[in-house]
Amino acid sequence: MQEIYFLAMIFLSLCLYYMLKNRLAIFFPSFPGMVRIIGRLADIQKSDLVYDLGSGDGRVLEVFAKKGVECIGIEQNGLLIKAAKKRLKKYKNVRLIHGNIFDQSLSKADVIIAYLSRYATRDLQKKIKKECRKGTRIILVSYRFDGWEPVRMKKWFWLGVRLYVK
Ligand SMILES: C[S@@+](CC[C@H](N)C(=O)[O-])C[C@H]1O[C@@H](n2cnc3c(N)ncnc32)[C@H](O)[C@@H]1O
Repeated sequence: MQEIYFLAMIFLSLCLYYMLKNRLAIFFPSFPGMVRIIGRLADIQKSDLVYDLGSGDGRVLEVFAKKGVECIGIEQNGLLIKAAKKRLKKYKNVRLIHGNIFDQSLSKADVIIAYLSRYATRDLQKKIKKECRKGTRIILVSYRFDGWEPVRMKKWFWLGVRLYVK
C-alpha cells in the first residue's frame, strides 16, 4: 500500500513539474466548435500568413490549410509535431516548426492564433507589442490581453474566443 502511495506521489510530482515547466500551457485540444469559431473570427484573406502558436496536433491549422493560405505552426512537443505532420501532410502551404514560440519571430504574421496559458499569454502580448505590425489580427482562445479590448468575442460554452487587432 505504501509503495503505491509513494509511486503516486512521484507521478504527481512529475506531472506538476511538467505543467510548471510549460507554465501550464499543456496540450488541451480545441473542440470542433471552437475550431469553427477560430476559423470564422480570422476572416482570412488569400494573402494572409497565419501562425498557430502551440499548434498541438494541427487541427486548427487544418482549417486554414484548406483555405490555401500560408500557415506556420510552432509546437514544442515532438509527439504533437509528428501528429500534426501526419494530419497535414497533403498541404504544401503549411510549415511546422518544432520549437519554442518565444524563439521565433512573429514580424511577418498577419494572423496569430494562440491557446496557451495565462502566463504565456502575458509574455506573448509583450512579444506582439515589440514585433508585430499594426493591423495584425490575434485570436486568443480562453485567455485575454491586459488593457486591450477585443474587437470581437465569441463564446463556446463558457470559453471565450477573442479577436484583437494590433
Ligand atoms: C491548449 S494546447 C492548444 C493546442 C492547439 N492549438 C489546439 O487548439 O488544439 C497548447 C499547446 O501549446 C503548446 N505550447 C505551450 N507553450 C509553448 C511554447 N512556449 N512553445 C511552443 N509550444 C508551446 C503545448 O505543447 C500545447 O500543445
